[in-house]
Amino acid sequence: PRRTRVHHLQEMKARGERWPMLTAYDVNTARIFDEAGVPVLLVGDSAGNTVLGYDTTVPVTTEELLILTRAVVRGAPHALVVADLPFGSYQVSVEQAVTTAVEFMKSGGAHAVKLEGGAHYADRIRAIVDAGIPVMAHLGFTPQSEHALGGYRVQGRGDDAAEKLLADARAVTEAGAFAVVLEMVPAHVAKRVTAEVPIPTVGIGAGPECDAQVLVWTDMAGLSDPSRRTPKFVKRYADLGSVLADAAGTYAREVREGVFPGPEHSFD
Ligand code: KIV
Ligand code: NA
Repeated sequence: PRRTRVHHLQEMKARGERWPMLTAYDVNTARIFDEAGVPVLLVGDSAGNTVLGYDTTVPVTTEELLILTRAVVRGAPHALVVADLPFGSYQVSVEQAVTTAVEFMKSGGAHAVKLEGGAHYADRIRAIVDAGIPVMAHLGFTPQSEHALGGYRVQGRGDDAAEKLLADARAVTEAGAFAVVLEMVPAHVAKRVTAEVPIPTVGIGAGPECDAQVLVWTDMAGLSDPSRRTPKFVKRYADLGSVLADAAGTYAREVREGVFPGPEHSFD
């Protein structure tokens, strides 16, 4: 099949076809998810938590995400690869936002970028789109602002907050965003946004009525740190953590017992 393009996602919304998105941070997962038919891969700044071991996405740098983006692009011949703009790489000015987005396209090889924010960042979205770069917006709970939002909590609850979310979704649409992530938003609010904006909505903790869904792959496949709380919106489709722990444990035991390597793993 051909590479997924932004217009394909728009056409799927028009046809009422839902589509899945997953994060990916390296070449192997990119290859596997691409082959599994996931049309959009996000090099999320969730890599800060899932790969780099930070507590939040705040410390993640452009350099760190660029390295992961290149790896994902190399592994995914069909998926549309979206790169997250890290905290501090687009907030300072419109010019900074365009410069960072260009870097992700030019040096990272991404096909689109994502940034967190609504009406107040419409100027950044517009300028990046004008530079020829597709932009995915991100509303609701936006992890880069977790300290301003008062922690990890559902957004858009109550009439005023729901109206604001809707206004933000309209603003990013008008600014030229090709899709919008809705994170931790009441299902009925996400449903309303999905019906009222023409661009695809990508839900995470936003109920079943969005045009698309996204999960952090390590959550989806059970590779997250078991000491960290898994959010309610995650469905775990595998238990990779146990599979790997078993493999590593068996390998370690076999080395200690002299079982591995056997003659079949040795050269004459
Ligand atoms: O960084 C990330 O993984 C994300 C998704 C959860 C949307 O932004
Ligand atoms: Na992110």
